[in-house]
This record gives sequence, C-alpha cells and structure tokens, in this order.
Amino acid sequence: MNVTAAHRLSTQPTIDRRAFLIGVGSLAAAATLPRPARAANSAPEFALVAAPGRASLVGADFPATEVWTFGNRVPGPELRVRQGEPVRIVVRNELPEDTTVHWHGIRLPNAMDGVPGLTQPPIRPGEQFAYEFTPPDAGTFWYHPHADSLQQLGRGMAGALIVEEPQPVVVDRDVVWMLADWRLTGDAQIAAGFGNGMEAAMAGRVGNTVTINGRISEEFPVRAGERIRLRLVNAALARIMSLRFEGHRPVVIAIDGQPCEPHEPERSRLVIGPAMRVDLVLDMQGEPGRRYQIVDDYYDGLAYWLTELVYEDQPPVRAHPIDAPLSLPRNPIPEPDLVDADRHELRLQGGMMGGGGMMGMGGMMGMGRGAAWAINGMSMTGDGHTGMPPLLILRRGRSYVLVLRNDTAWWHPMHLHGFSFRVLSRNGNDVTHRQWADTVLVPPKETVDVAFVADNPGDWMLHCHVTDHQVSGMMTVLRVA
Ligand code: C2O
Ligand code: CU
Repeated sequence: MNVTAAHRLSTQPTIDRRAFLIGVGSLAAAATLPRPARAANSAPEFALVAAPGRASLVGADFPATEVWTFGNRVPGPELRVRQGEPVRIVVRNELPEDTTVHWHGIRLPNAMDGVPGLTQPPIRPGEQFAYEFTPPDAGTFWYHPHADSLQQLGRGMAGALIVEEPQPVVVDRDVVWMLADWRLTGDAQIAAGFGNGMEAAMAGRVGNTVTINGRISEEFPVRAGERIRLRLVNAALARIMSLRFEGHRPVVIAIDGQPCEPHEPERSRLVIGPAMRVDLVLDMQGEPGRRYQIVDDYYDGLAYWLTELVYEDQPPVRAHPIDAPLSLPRNPIPEPDLVDADRHELRLQGGMMGGGGMMGMGGMMGMGRGAAWAINGMSMTGDGHTGMPPLLILRRGRSYVLVLRNDTAWWHPMHLHGFSFRVLSRNGNDVTHRQWADTVLVPPKETVDVAFVADNPGDWMLHCHVTDHQVSGMMTVLRVA
C-alpha cells in the first residue's frame, strides 16, 4: 500500500473541500482595485446553511429522524482547512429561530467566537453572518451553535473542523468520528423535554442512542496491519464516554486538537467528556477475519458497544507497524509563566446532592430563571446574551492559573473559549502529561488547576459543556482587557 497517497482517504464519506468553495473569483472581482496578493492566496470560503432536515440515524427499519442540520446533513460537513491560512465561513440561518456558530477550541478573534449578545448579534432567521479567522493551531476542532444550544446541538447541529498540519503523522487513513448522543422515541424521533429541570440539576440530558457520524454503527471495516489516525469528537449534549478498544492499544497523540506526548490511555480507558476531542493512532494488530468491540462503559450498568472493528480476511498490509514517529509538532501557544502567574479560584456550585435536595444555592445572584448551578455564587443562564458582567478582568499578556474547584456531586467538562490552557494538576498533584486542552473534566469534589497566557483580548465564556448545566447557570465570562 502506498502510505503517502492513501493517508487522506477515509471510509466515512467526507465532503470534498471543493464542493464548498464558492465565489472566490467573484470576491476578487468585486474589489475596486486589483489585489494580486489577495488573489494569490485567497481564503477558502465555505457556505453553511442551518436548516431543519431529516436523517436516517438508526437504519432503514425506522423512519428518518426530523433533525436540525448544517448543510442538510448530520453531522454537518467536515470542514478541512490549513494551519495559518485564512478561512471564511458564511452561515445562513434557515431555522425557525436565532442561531450562531461557535468554533470550539479555535483561538480566534473575539468577534468571531459566535456567542450571541456577547460577541455578535444572533443570526436571525433568513439572515447570514460571515465568520473569518486564521486558525493558528493545527488539530481536531469542531463547530456547533451557541444559541438555544440544548435544542440545536441536541437536534444534530455539529460538525468537525479539521485544521491540517503541514506535516501530518504518517498513517494509512485519517478518520473522523463525530460521536453524538440522541434521546429517541420508539419511532426514531427526537424525544421532547429539552430543558427538564430535574435533569439539569443532575447529569443532564443523556440520551439512548449513540451514533458515529450520524448513524448507529454495527461495524468499522479495517485491514490487518494498517495504521489509522482516529479523531474522536464527543459532540453529545451531556454523555461522558469511556472507551475501551478490545484487543488493541490506541496511542493518544493529541487532546482537544493540541499535540501531546504520545501515550497509551491510563488503564486502557479513554475518557472523553462532552466537547472534548482525542486523536488516536491505532495500529490494526488484530487477526484477519476477526471482530473486536469498542465498548463504552462509563455509566455503571449501562455499557454498550459503540461499534466493532471488523478485519477483512486478508493478509496484513505490512509485516510490522509503520516505523514513523507518532508525535506531532506543537502549536504556537505561548507558555504560561507559572512563577509570575495570578491565581483565581472558580468554585463550581449547585446541583442535586447525592441524597437529593439542592446544594447550598442560598445567596446566589441569579441571572435568569431556572438556575441550578453557579460559579463563585453567580448563575449565568442560557447561551449568551447582552450585559453579561465579567467575573474576572485579566490583563492582556499576563499568565493566569485558574483553580477549578468542583464543590458539587457531578462531573463538569469545563470549557474556556478563545484559549488552550495547560492542565497542571489534579487535587494538587501534577498531572503526567500537562497537556494543552480547551475543555477539562472536573470530577465531583475535585480540583483541577489550569494555566494560560491571557494574550487574546475580549470577553470569553467559561462554562460547563454539559449543556443543561451551562444553560442553567454554570457559565461565566472572563474579560481580557
Ligand atoms: Cu463548545 Cu461555549 O462551547
Ligand atoms: Cu457541568
């Protein structure tokens, strides 16, 4: 097999980038003065329409599911761009309600961050908004709405945004798995009841059907001896996943898009909270003709298999694994100065206690009805709106340590917009890989320290990515001035 030629192939239908290239020529023509420099490296332009649609999530035996889509498909089209190259994405809203798009994990200008009220006016039905940015980091990112998130994400609106390295790792196939979790009725329709207050105060809306790239998956065909880069994106509203690969030894090469020291996951469990991404290298060392399960056993008593790696009955494509390095070049993220950093504690509060009853929410300054959670005593609810006061004002260029202290009985994948941070320690103990991340899972009653340089000015959201938690109060704003 010709490795270099084959490495971009994917078994999943990826959209040809050219299909989304629109009007670059007419853009150049519209300028009054000739702009040869612009024309020479014109930005790829994508059109993304947000609209209701239908998708066959669970196969031909069931009716198609009424979903909400980007580009009339679930997940939305996989956008592939190049590191350091400008990109323009025009989002048109054909939904019956306002929307925006957030480019999760991309370090971009604040005005392109997609938070309604805070960074841009919402895109009204029938209107459009052009997002323009230059991704500084290569890696696996994703996009999703930041308006009425429970419904819009919960009805299927999410897509992968892959920023390609100039020099990717050498693999036979580069595969993206958008993992989504749906709560479906018996006739495969999306169950009502978004924003249930009881769920909001507990684990959030965990569904009953997990799909890979918009379909439940019975099998994933592989060849013995091939090497696959598997980019996992947890696009669920609330479901945390813990994946085990029967008979295989995946190597983690990037977390939340950011390269890390290649390593095997702790206790062979790959724990991925909502919004988190993991890039794996998987050498297909199984036996031709055999099947191997990928199991998610995060929730006690609710283990299921996500899919099976099914080996073609063919001799291995090579006798030994590819002898090429697995490490990716690091991205140009400034290193925080830990000696000089300012520390701020963010206490995550609220929710149901183990024995029922709400955690001490007295004295909370509610910013909306239905608050179940808070950060440092303040509940900001919804998806973003005007007049959100910053919890902290950070000085541009300074280093900060955020101490995320979980006082609750629940897990929270905490996401900071606009930055990648270094995960320093858990409960005061240094973590092994000190990886960069934009979303970090904070277990009940634990504390995670993260650090970053406040080099990106603007008002940035920090919230839990269990969507019910976010919209019912576990959200705040950090201002970099
Ligand atoms: Cu993917 Cu505000 O987040
Ligand atoms: Cu949470």
